[in-house]
Amino acid sequence: MSDQPRALLTADALRERITVMGREIRAAYGDDPILCLGILKGSFVFLSDLVRAIDGPVQVAFLGVSSYEGTESTGHVRITHDVNVSLRGFHVLIVEDIVDTGLTLDYLLRTLGVREPRSLKICTLLDKPSRRKVAVPLDFVGFQIPDTFVIGYGLDLDEYYRNLPYVGIYEGQPLPGR
Ligand code: IMP
Ligand code: MG
Repeated sequence: MSDQPRALLTADALRERITVMGREIRAAYGDDPILCLGILKGSFVFLSDLVRAIDGPVQVAFLGVSSYEGTESTGHVRITHDVNVSLRGFHVLIVEDIVDTGLTLDYLLRTLGVREPRSLKICTLLDKPSRRKVAVPLDFVGFQIPDTFVIGYGLDLDEYYRNLPYVGIYEGQPLPGR
């Protein structure tokens, strides 16, 4: 295929870092069960690799949110698919693809915090600190990246490119049908 996006993080770099993150996460929770709560849709690829890097008892659940159109956050966070289990008493680890303005996670911390989890922590593959509008406590971060729009490894532009096996830089590649 021609015109493949330029890689910011290769598949090898992702694999190496995620292996280490899995160990860091297990070490932080001891032998306790962890409920990994993937934020859809962007985190689905990262989550599937991450859970396989964490030893011991792990559960998986999903929460769908939407705040982006094109390359800009609308700032209005919406739950499009709620978790179908109670979070009460669980060590909940929110798994995100990327933290940009922080608005999504700020909303999620407030919304999920009242459901009485035993603990509530955040794990994100990517962090764009230069774009933050609200401070959010990040417990596990894969990579800090510069202020550039990235695609692939679950991250999309208008729902495309999620299947790219690495994190690439969006440089105006055309979308199908446009
Ligand atoms: P925030 O609420 O601005 O922190 O945005 C978080 C969400 O916006 C992420 O979960 C992504 O779905 C999306 N997002 C932010 N930056 C990018 C990017 O560079 N590429 C693709 N999606 C992004
Ligand atoms: Mg997302």
